[in-house]
Amino acid sequence: MQRPTLISQPFDIVVFGGRGDLAKRKLLPALFQLDRENRLPEDGRIIGASRGGMDDTAFRELVEQACHDFLPAKAFDPQTWERFVRRLHYVGMDATAPHDYGALKELLNKREDVARVFYLATAPNLFGPIAQSLKAAELITPVTRLVLEKPLGHDLESSHEINAEVGQVVEEHQIYRIDHYLGKETVQNLMVLRFANSLFEPLWNRTYIDHVQITVAETVGVSGRWSYYDGAGALRDMVQNHLLQLLCLTAMEPPISLEGNAIRDEKVKVLKSLEPIAANEVAQLTVRGQYRAGAIDGKPVPGYLQEEDAGSSSNTETYVAIKAHIDNWRWAGVPFYLRTGKRLPQRGSEIVVQFRTPPHFIYPETAGPFPPNRLVMRIQPNEGIRLQMLNKQPGPGDLKLRQTGLDLSFADEFGAAIPDAYERLLLDVIRGRPTLFMRVDEVESAWRWTDTILRAWQQQAIPVKHYTAGAWGPSAAIALIERDGRTWHEED
Ligand code: BG6
Repeated sequence: MQRPTLISQPFDIVVFGGRGDLAKRKLLPALFQLDRENRLPEDGRIIGASRGGMDDTAFRELVEQACHDFLPAKAFDPQTWERFVRRLHYVGMDATAPHDYGALKELLNKREDVARVFYLATAPNLFGPIAQSLKAAELITPVTRLVLEKPLGHDLESSHEINAEVGQVVEEHQIYRIDHYLGKETVQNLMVLRFANSLFEPLWNRTYIDHVQITVAETVGVSGRWSYYDGAGALRDMVQNHLLQLLCLTAMEPPISLEGNAIRDEKVKVLKSLEPIAANEVAQLTVRGQYRAGAIDGKPVPGYLQEEDAGSSSNTETYVAIKAHIDNWRWAGVPFYLRTGKRLPQRGSEIVVQFRTPPHFIYPETAGPFPPNRLVMRIQPNEGIRLQMLNKQPGPGDLKLRQTGLDLSFADEFGAAIPDAYERLLLDVIRGRPTLFMRVDEVESAWRWTDTILRAWQQQAIPVKHYTAGAWGPSAAIALIERDGRTWHEED
């Protein structure tokens, strides 16, 4: 295979939580894929670190199994594995205890000049203690980067504390806060669509846009992660990060350049312009749901309270819908409808921009209906872009208009499979490119807004509304948008 242009520099990546779910499902398979694409240099090592005894051999077996389990079919090739396996090491340690760093120190010794990445795939309350221990063990070099997985705290205050603790150890430019949605190709393409084309930007404002919908629908439940999820809920797990990032990229002003801070400055402005949701409006502007047992694709699935390790009762939301407003010049009066949920009928993330109807309509009602133009950006699956518009239905009879779509499928157009978000993000961490990671003020501004909703839910004691697994959330979510004379987008 020809050497690709994007190759990382020599590195040591230490994954704390190296035997955990995220490491197995995402991080280690993504690193394997990068190796397979020849993007890793010879001199790059991956060190799993976690509590408990295991040696290099056992860790390598675990990684091999993870690659088999979580890579797409046929992605595992023995030739790459032979090279990849030599990169893998394991250290059993308590990462929060400075005195337990002996073996790791020895392994990293004399490699102060290679990119050193500590990936904290652990609970967020460990971020501060691990950072402090790394400092005490004198492992922080000028080329050290700390990767923090979401969730970064559970509200503004806890997030601020974590950021402050980590900030005592490394500089802001050394902290890489992950929101894996930013590593998705289609999410990166949002900016390209808006700012590399002149077609849409003149229309991208309150004069031409009626409203925006952002949907992240999942068919999976919370199986296996109940206790984490029950303490979080959909607002913290999905809206505070993934949905707000999608909203920022859709709503932000053109940045002055592609430089990381230029983009993040614009995103922060959007977050700061989000209108807080007051306690007396929260029942009108938000919907909380929780799934009950049902069926998806004809297969029965358990309810939230019947999932593995579930408690006997819970008021945690597995679904949330919000009508949000951005208080600025461009978006005044344009609602942004957000929704996300687990155990919905289909997996699909998309952003739908609905344009206003023409100001003076000359076609007779008999030629209709006349659905408004919509630009649909499909983030996953079936990645692509569709522009819905009216056209004349050919024929000499009565005039009939029909909605048709200009459709771009990424798979048809670009052929190659779309890489997993973590591949791009890991490569960027090693290369020291922070653009696709969240800056401290971005994370905190997002919390500031979601905190207003959490507080309002609490003050008003808003209970979850139940929905049957396999339905599009509680009926109140449909009412949320239909009250305004609008409908959630459904692909025809
Ligand atoms: C994670 C959430 O951040 O994103 C999960 O914690 C969710 O609950 C996942 O399932 C969705 O990611 P993706 O890439 O499958 O859309």
